[in-house]
Amino acid sequence: MNKTDNTSSTWGGRFQEPTDAFVQRFTASAQFDQRLYKEDIAGSKAHADMLASVGILTEEEAKQIHWGLDKIAAQIESGEFSWSIELEDVHMNIEHALTHLIGDAGKKLHTGRSRNDQVATDIRLWLRTTIDDIAKEMRRLQLGIAQLALTEADTIMPGFTHLQTAQPITFGHHLLAWYEMLDRDYDRLIDCQKRVNVSPLGAAALAGTTFNIDREQTASALGFSRPSRNSLDSVSDRDFAIEFCSTAALVMTHLSRMSEELVIWASSQFNFVDIPDRFCTGSSIMPQKKNPDVPELIRGKTGRVNGHLISLLTLMKSQPLAYNKDNQEDKEPLFDTADTLFDSLRAFADMVPNVKSKPESMRAAAFQGFSTATDLADYLVRKQIPFREAHEIVGQSVAYAIEQNKDLSELSLPELSQFSQAIDKDVFDVLTLEGSVSARDHLGGTAPNQVRIQAQAAIDFLQGDTQ
Ligand code: ARG
Repeated sequence: MNKTDNTSSTWGGRFQEPTDAFVQRFTASAQFDQRLYKEDIAGSKAHADMLASVGILTEEEAKQIHWGLDKIAAQIESGEFSWSIELEDVHMNIEHALTHLIGDAGKKLHTGRSRNDQVATDIRLWLRTTIDDIAKEMRRLQLGIAQLALTEADTIMPGFTHLQTAQPITFGHHLLAWYEMLDRDYDRLIDCQKRVNVSPLGAAALAGTTFNIDREQTASALGFSRPSRNSLDSVSDRDFAIEFCSTAALVMTHLSRMSEELVIWASSQFNFVDIPDRFCTGSSIMPQKKNPDVPELIRGKTGRVNGHLISLLTLMKSQPLAYNKDNQEDKEPLFDTADTLFDSLRAFADMVPNVKSKPESMRAAAFQGFSTATDLADYLVRKQIPFREAHEIVGQSVAYAIEQNKDLSELSLPELSQFSQAIDKDVFDVLTLEGSVSARDHLGGTAPNQVRIQAQAAIDFLQGDTQ
């Protein structure tokens, strides 16, 4: 690039030599921030309309700007638009093209604004819509989970602590635990969107502008809840992006835990569920293999999303106010976080309703691990034996059952009552798996009755919500 080219560039006036070609490439963001073109155009239209209504532009100029921006949008969408690294970013590419199309009116568009408030506006607009899309996918997944929970309300499986069989639960109950995790995530996402939806436009470079702009007008034209209150903060704040990434990291962490469970359950050792073939892949060498690739990959992708959160936190931690070029590094982690989260939710929402339980294996597993031992202890407590003593009695019964290679429910009454005279024949009601789960019939408990109530309430709520 020669001197003449450079002096014609955006800031050429002050410079004695052209920007180094490598530096130009190094500092450019057009390769990735072109993704913000729609938001950039919307922001420019709102700004132009405002400039016209306060008398800085004529109505005719604002009209030309709209016309030019629409043309540019069409060019971008049809792939005709040529993006240039020399023009650094999405903002200057579009402004340059506009001036090329409409001349002087295009040159006036940047009155009373800066790329600093422009980029902050664009990212906020983009993230606001992106959160809407992600929130919809989350709701779709929650509905799928609640519907499956209703179908599986009576299916018995072992519940675990330390991945050791603990107590029998219903599969529906386990699924509703997933539902709750996602429900909190949904709330976090919507709450974060409130702080995203504030307009920085008009903060200009950092201190505001000498023109009599109307920030309320641009904020409301762009659907923001209000204009921001401090111009320095407006151009230097990326909290909203960090908050989104932290919420995304939590959602991914939840999806990763669910994935891990699916992977374990689908193993032939557990054999609790079947994941449909279309969500799995085979092995190039071992013909018998069916690998749960989708949940494994989601578990893996959690790493990159967590990483992006750390990137953004680190990006911000030493920046003095107001805008610094460091901030250009916010976009790639943010975009990748949103894409990864959306795709992972989509995969889960498609997959989960099609997961088939294997009730016989689940039941057999619950039967194996002395999962009703707590029920025996509770039974003794109801017969006036203090809990600690009951615990001891059951411990002895389990040790005996292990010796006999039997489950507690398979021991005879004389065998059981040798450990406590309080044990009677009604003990067998509590030692069965069905007896155990249906006894936990209170809010939040695993009884099929409770699972049906909760699952139905969730379904009604979500269906009402999406109407
Ligand atoms: N491409 C820049 C970014 O993404 C736009 C803002 C540039 N502002 C500046 N003063 N250099 O942050």
